[in-house]
Amino acid sequence: MVNFFTLVTGFPGASGFGSASTAEQVTEGIDASNLTAIVTGGASGIGLETARVLALRNAHVIIAARNLKAANEAKQLILDNNQSARIDVLKLDLSSLTSVKEFANNFLALNLPLNLLMAFSVNKSAA
Ligand SMILES: NC(=O)c1ccc[n+]([C@@H]2O[C@H](COP(=O)([O-])OP(=O)(O)OC[C@H]3O[C@@H](n4cnc5c(N)ncnc54)[C@H](OP(=O)(O)O)[C@@H]3O)[C@@H](O)[C@H]2O)c1
Repeated sequence: MVNFFTLVTGFPGASGFGSASTAEQVTEGIDASNLTAIVTGGASGIGLETARVLALRNAHVIIAARNLKAANEAKQLILDNNQSARIDVLKLDLSSLTSVKEFANNFLALNLPLNLLMAFSVNKSAA
């Protein structure tokens, strides 16, 4: 169990990683080229960093976002530093069941497996 000391200091736990470890450090040496990951909230913050590093490890990343402009800018940012990144952007507004169903249908139409679902969407203005 992570105790308060290790959480605050970032001191590595049994895995060799701690709260100060980066996504790049944790995934170093992993080839995720056979994986497809949906990242909600992937247009900003920790979702964007997750999408970037998953793409760096060769996963096919689907950025699920309600703000397509921000999501496409995030996609471009990732591609600027990793031209072989496989990134698609799909519209998803989690506050709308209609949008969720449309997203699911659009994802199914891509005929990709779903190996990872990383959920980082949070509506801070509603908190
Ligand atoms: N940042 C960190 O270091 C960190 C660390 C640990 C945990 N977390 C947790 O990770 C989560 C995200 O944090 P963050 O800092 O990355 O926040 P953030 O930058 O504000 O990202 C939140 C994302 O959620 C999206 N979103 C909000 N409402 C949505 C909706 N109805 N449908 C679809 N997408 C929606 C936002 O898109 P819009 O542009 O459309 O608003 C935005 O891209 C939070 O729960 C936070 O507690 C963050």
